[in-house]
Amino acid sequence: METYRKKLNPIILGIESSCDETAAAVIRGRKLLSDEIISSASVQAQFGGVVPEIASRVHTDAVDEVVSRALKNAGVRKEELDVVAVTYGAGLLGALLVGLSFAKGLAMGLNIPLIGVNHIRGHLAACYLEDDTLKPPFITLLASGGHTAIIYVKTETEFEVLGATRDDAAGEAFDKVARVLSLPYPGGPHVEKLAREGEDSIPFPRMLKGLGGYDFSYSGLKTSVINYVHSKEQKGEAWSRADVACSFQKAALDILAEKAAEAAHEKGVQTIAAGGGVIANGYLRDKLVTVCNAAKLKLVLPERRHCTDNAAMIAAEGLVQYRAGNFAPLSLNAQASISLR
Ligand code: KG4
Ligand code: ZN
Repeated sequence: METYRKKLNPIILGIESSCDETAAAVIRGRKLLSDEIISSASVQAQFGGVVPEIASRVHTDAVDEVVSRALKNAGVRKEELDVVAVTYGAGLLGALLVGLSFAKGLAMGLNIPLIGVNHIRGHLAACYLEDDTLKPPFITLLASGGHTAIIYVKTETEFEVLGATRDDAAGEAFDKVARVLSLPYPGGPHVEKLAREGEDSIPFPRMLKGLGGYDFSYSGLKTSVINYVHSKEQKGEAWSRADVACSFQKAALDILAEKAAEAAHEKGVQTIAAGGGVIANGYLRDKLVTVCNAAKLKLVLPERRHCTDNAAMIAAEGLVQYRAGNFAPLSLNAQASISLR
């Protein structure tokens, strides 16, 4: 790409296929032009989780269609694209390879640069589409199926992880509690819905007592929910599924909002942003609003569909990497895991 000249507001196609969503989106600068998704979640739900082989097959069937739809709805011909940005990790290898191979073919055929996007950085970049004036420094609360962390975003490409989960991620805890409550996969939205019918009547442990700084732990809370349900069932005592959902949700999420505000205060920043599937949770969103209002902090929350996996966030992180000049060779490989720190 030696002859390549950077544009101020390039047209970027983002492609995402790391788990069970095949997604494509087109942006021009920070403006979202289209946003398409084909999900195999309902197929996966029959198996209680994501079956990698099924995910790969669905991606293979869907990727061409989802990209065509994204281009058509953006009103962009593929020849007008400046860059292709694609998730190269972390995720299921077979699933990642489908999107990555497709993106490489497109970049090569069109003779445009390829950008490899770290999926987690994508979740963090979703907030840039929500508010096109947003600029670091700020604090980001990341809460997804694989990660839970409080991150100090110094510049668009420099981060400091202030704290992270020491065991399960928040989304993972929601998925496990959902299983105990016989709710389908992915559990988060179902637990949230059930929690609306319940009360915060069960004193599950507030996990962070004793953990210093900004670290989290969800395994104790999860075990305590499992023990509560098993003990009630063994004793044949009545219990409320909705109260379990509500009490768990509060114990799991209050602390995230509180710690994010503390971090903003410590770092002297005025803004909190957020990203990842758990940020779609309405209770957490309301709690973040309350905490930020009380602390006079600006809050930037991606709309719900940009919290769970999507390609708009991959295109948004593609723009960050484009501006930083981080292009990928066509030999770029998929990576199953990428460290957060
Ligand atoms: O970010 P994401 O879509 O995938 C990655 O892990 O990268 O996050 C998925 C996680 C799942 O664990 C899912 O149960 C959780 O996000 N989730 C939620 C909600 N929607 C999705 N958790 C709580 N409340 C929700 N409304
Ligand atoms: Zn994700």
